[in-house]
Amino acid sequence: MKRLDIEIEEARTALAQSGLTDEWSLPQPVHAGSAAPRSAAGPLYRLDAVQKLFTRRGARVAALDGVDLTIENGEFVIVMGSTGSGKSTLLMLLGALDRPSAGTLSCEGQDLSRLGESGLCAVRGRLVGFVFQSFNLIPTLTALENVETALVPLGVSAGERRERALAALADVGLSQRAGHVPGELSGGEQQRVAIARALVKDPHVLLADEPTGNLDEKTRDDIVGVLESVWRERGKTLIVVTHDSSVAARAPRLIRLHEGRVVEHVRQNGAGVVSRAADGSVVATPPAAATAVLEEAGTPVGAMAP
Ligand SMILES: Nc1ncnc2c1ncn2[C@@H]1O[C@H](COP(=O)(O)OP(=O)(O)OP(=O)(O)O)[C@@H](O)[C@H]1O
Ligand SMILES: [Mg+2]
Repeated sequence: MKRLDIEIEEARTALAQSGLTDEWSLPQPVHAGSAAPRSAAGPLYRLDAVQKLFTRRGARVAALDGVDLTIENGEFVIVMGSTGSGKSTLLMLLGALDRPSAGTLSCEGQDLSRLGESGLCAVRGRLVGFVFQSFNLIPTLTALENVETALVPLGVSAGERRERALAALADVGLSQRAGHVPGELSGGEQQRVAIARALVKDPHVLLADEPTGNLDEKTRDDIVGVLESVWRERGKTLIVVTHDSSVAARAPRLIRLHEGRVVEHVRQNGAGVVSRAADGSVVATPPAAATAVLEEAGTPVGAMAP
């Protein structure tokens, strides 16, 4: 076994012993050929009456309780809501880390609620890159090796792995730190490595769960800038969970969850803000051009160009 493979194995063991699931932090093997081809038309995600139930000490908890949502390719969507409102659960389902308990969730036309573990794994490997609040880097690996880990399960050769990982680090402005281990990097630099790791396999969607939660204000703005450029310049779909309203203000679309339901849906651009509450009531902030982006209450609002 090569050093990188050994270190990955050790990190998996350490994670397993810590009680965390390694699905959240380490790439999973991909079963070639089991993912459906990308559909040319239709939304990226469609959720109909999605429910996610957990059982906690004998009691049922509805982490998501009837979510209807459509997300188009290339959107930048912010998810907000108080603690426990279901944000991470929603991201977990969008990232094919789990299936809904009821309702349907399709991704590029493929119904994820009907896929088995190997099918979900294939979707994850091909479609989705994750970024987390706590970076989840392997402490004993360099920045370059951390990025390379995302390509190991995809069977990419060592030479190509290195080349792509270097390019991904360059994309996030971190070429000079490729040989440093996480302990030698600032929080913002570590998060850049994590973004490079999420992007190196060229996923369609980047899912970020409170990516700036551990960072100071200036670093937060840097990291949001990196994510924004991934969306604007590389056309990735970007879905970000945040508690930070200044991060939220930078996205064209915001969804607010409360107790597992979407209670508010906001569209904003330079022209103004349109907000629709779950009861269908609408608040449009002038100029009136903003109202042009609002579809009829009760139907999904169409995608707004970056
Ligand atoms: N594996 C689980 N088992 C039992 N309950 C769970 C599980 N995962 C989530 N929950 C519950 O589901 C609800 C939603 O959790 P979730 O983690 O999605 O919230 P969140 O909006 O991300 O909160 P936070 O802002 O604190 O991260 C919470 O009540 C949580 O306790
Ligand atoms: Mg959460």
